[in-house]
Amino acid sequence: MAENDKYIMSIKNLTKVFKSGIFKVEYTVAVKDVSFDIKPGTVLSLIGESGSGKTTIGKMILKLLKPSDGHIYYKDRDIAGIDDKKELKEYYKKVQGIFQDPFATFNPLYRIDRVFDMLYNSFAYDKSNQEKRINQVLNDVNLNPDRILGKFPHQLSGGQLQRLLIARALLMDVDLLIADELISMLDASTRIGVLNLLLELCKKNGMSVIFITHDLNLGYYISDESLIMYKGRLVERGNTKKIYENPVHPYTQMLFESVPEIGNRWDATKEFLPEKIIDDVEDFYKDNAGKGFVEIEKGHSVLFSNK
Ligand SMILES: Nc1ncnc2c1ncn2[C@@H]1O[C@H](COP(=O)(O)OP(=O)(O)OP(=O)(O)O)[C@@H](O)[C@H]1O
Ligand SMILES: [Mg+2]
Repeated sequence: MAENDKYIMSIKNLTKVFKSGIFKVEYTVAVKDVSFDIKPGTVLSLIGESGSGKTTIGKMILKLLKPSDGHIYYKDRDIAGIDDKKELKEYYKKVQGIFQDPFATFNPLYRIDRVFDMLYNSFAYDKSNQEKRINQVLNDVNLNPDRILGKFPHQLSGGQLQRLLIARALLMDVDLLIADELISMLDASTRIGVLNLLLELCKKNGMSVIFITHDLNLGYYISDESLIMYKGRLVERGNTKKIYENPVHPYTQMLFESVPEIGNRWDATKEFLPEKIIDDVEDFYKDNAGKGFVEIEKGHSVLFSNK
């Protein structure tokens, strides 16, 4: 059981090991011993280098991948136990994902109006105000219903499809939205609009969002809490402002140092040493051996050692 039912989702000691290879079997530890909780109406940003395990966490929450170890609780229910069709449908009604490739989400043969029809049919929503509601959510995400509804997915841009997915989430009144690189396909002016809209809806509807991004500035702008990942592990977690003001883990510190500032030209002579961060992290863990994950101030925890 989750310790506290005020959380919408509790992730406990989540681990995912991928097995791959034909002649020589290889194991990739994509996610290792990750724990965090999500309160209703909060935005969490999940930040980390490419390959650090962010998408894998999102996919486990959406039951697209099975954890190798650990548990995910949705309002006290271990989601590993959700397997009958009816309960699974209920789960997907409340927990949704928007992934890096929005094209893969839509059936290419269905026009957008049919996608919404199917949604109404399969989740048995009140049809009396279907058209009005659909028009409203499309307007909310800055899409023109007259232009969108009659089109096929391939006739829309990546950014339009991503906004369509947000509109769908709004229509369904979801509890948790996993947004993986959500706005990478949007231009700068649409970005802020969509982000503000998401934030507004979180506060208004109590929807929570896991916002997966590489962009620290964006993370700061959008999230109440931040989760910093490095090589499959959660290395720093907590209140966004506290982490940004006082990063403690060497990887988090390196991330903040490498953010280019507007007005400062990129210094091409500055050395970038990816191996250095590996050594720095190892030294940090050695110096702090046995400490593990420690809360250093209220609402701010750091992985001091991995053993
Ligand atoms: N199906 C799979 N089989 C084997 N290895 C996988 C599989 N999916 C992911 N991995 C590996 O797991 C690790 C984590 O991948 P993941 O996609 O979660 O990273 P990410 O943090 O989302 O990266 P990015 O920022 O590039 O999207 C990587 O080393 C990746 O190669
Ligand atoms: Mg990813």
